[in-house]
Amino acid sequence: MDTTQKIIIFCFLLQGVCCRDFNISLPEKIQALSGSCVVIKCRFEINETYDKDLTERAAGVWYKDTHDKSSSPVFNSSASTQNSFIKGNITGQLNYKDCTTVFYDVTSNHSGQYFFRIEGEGGLKWTFTKSNTSVVVIESPVNPQVVLYVNEQELQDQQEVLEGRSVSLRCSADDLCSSPPATLTWSSTARIPHSESSKLQELIISDLNFTAAQRHHRVTFTCSISYQLQDNNKTAHSSITLHVQYAPQILNSSCNIGNVNVCFCEVDGNPSPVVEWHLSGRLVSNSSNMFISEERLSNTSLRSFISLDQSLTQTSTLLCVSKNTHGNESLQLLPSSTRLSFSFMLIGVAVVLLVTLISVIIYLRKERGKLQQTKQEESAKGSGQNADKENEGDSLYATVSSVEDATANPDIHRQKSIIYSSIDFKNYKAESEEVESVSCLHADYAVVQRDSGGAAEAESLVREFSRSTEAQVKQASC
Ligand SMILES: *[C@@H]1O[C@H](CO)[C@@H](O)[C@H](O)[C@H]1NC(C)=O
Ligand SMILES: *[C@@H]1O[C@H](CO)[C@@H](O)[C@H](O)[C@H]1NC(C)=O
Ligand SMILES: *[C@@H]1O[C@H](CO)[C@@H](O)[C@H](O)[C@H]1NC(C)=O
Ligand SMILES: *[C@@H]1O[C@H](CO)[C@@H](O)[C@H](O)[C@H]1NC(C)=O
Ligand SMILES: *[C@@H]1O[C@H](CO)[C@@H](O)[C@H](O)[C@H]1NC(C)=O
Ligand SMILES: *[C@@H]1O[C@H](CO)[C@@H](O)[C@H](O)[C@H]1NC(C)=O
Ligand SMILES: *[C@@H]1O[C@H](CO)[C@@H](O)[C@H](O)[C@H]1NC(C)=O
Ligand SMILES: *[C@@H]1O[C@H](CO)[C@@H](O)[C@H](O)[C@H]1NC(C)=O
Ligand SMILES: *[C@@H]1O[C@H](CO)[C@@H](O)[C@H](O)[C@H]1NC(C)=O
Ligand SMILES: *[C@@H]1O[C@H](CO)[C@@H](O)[C@H](O)[C@H]1NC(C)=O
Ligand SMILES: *[C@@H]1O[C@H](CO)[C@@H](O)[C@H](O)[C@H]1NC(C)=O
Ligand SMILES: *[C@@H]1O[C@H](CO)[C@@H](O)[C@H](O)[C@H]1NC(C)=O
Repeated sequence: MDTTQKIIIFCFLLQGVCCRDFNISLPEKIQALSGSCVVIKCRFEINETYDKDLTERAAGVWYKDTHDKSSSPVFNSSASTQNSFIKGNITGQLNYKDCTTVFYDVTSNHSGQYFFRIEGEGGLKWTFTKSNTSVVVIESPVNPQVVLYVNEQELQDQQEVLEGRSVSLRCSADDLCSSPPATLTWSSTARIPHSESSKLQELIISDLNFTAAQRHHRVTFTCSISYQLQDNNKTAHSSITLHVQYAPQILNSSCNIGNVNVCFCEVDGNPSPVVEWHLSGRLVSNSSNMFISEERLSNTSLRSFISLDQSLTQTSTLLCVSKNTHGNESLQLLPSSTRLSFSFMLIGVAVVLLVTLISVIIYLRKERGKLQQTKQEESAKGSGQNADKENEGDSLYATVSSVEDATANPDIHRQKSIIYSSIDFKNYKAESEEVESVSCLHADYAVVQRDSGGAAEAESLVREFSRSTEAQVKQASC
């Protein structure tokens, strides 16, 4: 390396360190939502000879689609923003070479290429023509991006997740300028776990972390981004459908035991499970006397029927086994525990019925005993004899031959007239002996045979007796 080369390299290094020239760094392209705002991140460099001219009073100016000096700028920070083409503010500090600018209420008219110009004191007036920012105003927001991660690995669409795995659904969208800031929300037909929002560089992010379960199979999760604007709200969304693989489950089963024994078993699993039947410990193969058929209920579930021609013994066991690559589940259908409990229930009902029946019988017997007693008392008024205490439920017959005894009425007794009174209690025998064996008075009559002085009294007495008997009988609810 000779001296000349050394000098050239030295000069080059010197230029890089000390000899700054005008330069600007701007984003190439920015999206802005119509009705919202846009932030242009901006930093610039000036020729060192103008360093002293860059003060707090420096102005930032923006040109659109041209950097021609003759055209008017669209924004000038030292002029009133009242009549400017675009409303905005230089949020960066220009004296620290930060020209970051926000434009408000952008419309489609504001789409274009923007050039920055710095106007300091003295001779510092420079338009950065080498770089520009392209602002693209969009009418509706861009759909967010939804990515599925399983154990931190990104999964492609339609790939299936095994149940029990940690799943993370990440929704991300460009952090476009808006006030209030855009929000990401998750929605689904399934219950939504708690989501966590964060910011990552130029993105807003919402993570939905949960453990994959069977109930998430074929469930669609939707992430929505929404902007609250003055005149209207704007939203966009993206969805992802989860596919979960899970071990089989037996959902429903039943047996119909009779001339033909038919059992069925409903299973669900992903991949779709196979069903096996085990009769008394032996795997049943599909044959004419043990016919197995299957009915597909969905991509993941099926119903398997087994018809057993052979008669089953009390000790026969029937097992439904469903399997897939993730596991198995089995259920014993025979001897059926549900059948057992059902027969216990039947026994219980029978016992209750029996007890009730016995109670009813006892009660009715008591009631009838009372009725019998009153009847006997009534009879005693008539005769004081012939009361048939033993013959319950059978015909009751009383003949009163002398009213004197029956009434014990001193007046009648005194007259010693012969009066015949015949009382006939015919029994009504009910169809059901036990329940309706209450005696009913079928007919009663009194015959007054002799019309003597005391006869009228006697007759009225008999009528009274008859009435009271009727009343008694009515009370016995015939
Ligand atoms: C800075 O400006 C001066 C005067 O205009 C010029 O002579 C010099 O070359 C410039 N420096 C660079 C690095 O371009
Ligand atoms: C101008 O800035 C860009 C980016 O900041 C940088 O890559 C480039 O080297 C700069 N140019 C000069 C001449 O300083
Ligand atoms: C910006 O506004 C200031 C103050 O009104 C004015 O002096 C200057 O010329 C303007 N700059 C441009 C490029 O129009
Ligand atoms: C411009 O931005 C600065 C810094 O954020 C703030 O102090 C100032 O009030 C803003 N001006 C307008 C007109 O919004
Ligand atoms: C866009 O500009 C045209 C003419 O410059 C104007 O008529 C129109 O109203 C503007 N549109 C909006 C949305 O500001
Ligand atoms: C703005 O910059 C892009 C590339 O950065 C360029 O292609 C385009 O011509 C520039 N616009 C103008 C008006 O110079
Ligand atoms: C959710 O999962 C992602 C990726 O696995 C992880 O970066 C993030 O911290 C998790 N968030 C919560 C709240 O656990
Ligand atoms: C926008 O959404 C917010 C919150 O969801 C609601 O309060 C507001 O009324 C909505 N505005 C319009 C114009 O729909
Ligand atoms: C079980 O199957 C029986 C017979 O097909 C049906 O009546 C019943 O509703 C099913 N139960 C469930 C929970 O699916
Ligand atoms: C059992 O065999 C019959 C014909 O013999 C067939 O129709 C049926 O699909 C078979 N069942 C199963 C589960 O393979
Ligand atoms: C069943 O599976 C097929 C192919 O795997 C698929 O195209 C179809 O959408 C699925 N249907 C349901 C209801 O799961
Ligand atoms: C069912 O799975 C268990 C382990 O989960 C295994 O030990 C057993 O052998 C399996 N039974 C059948 C019938 O595949």
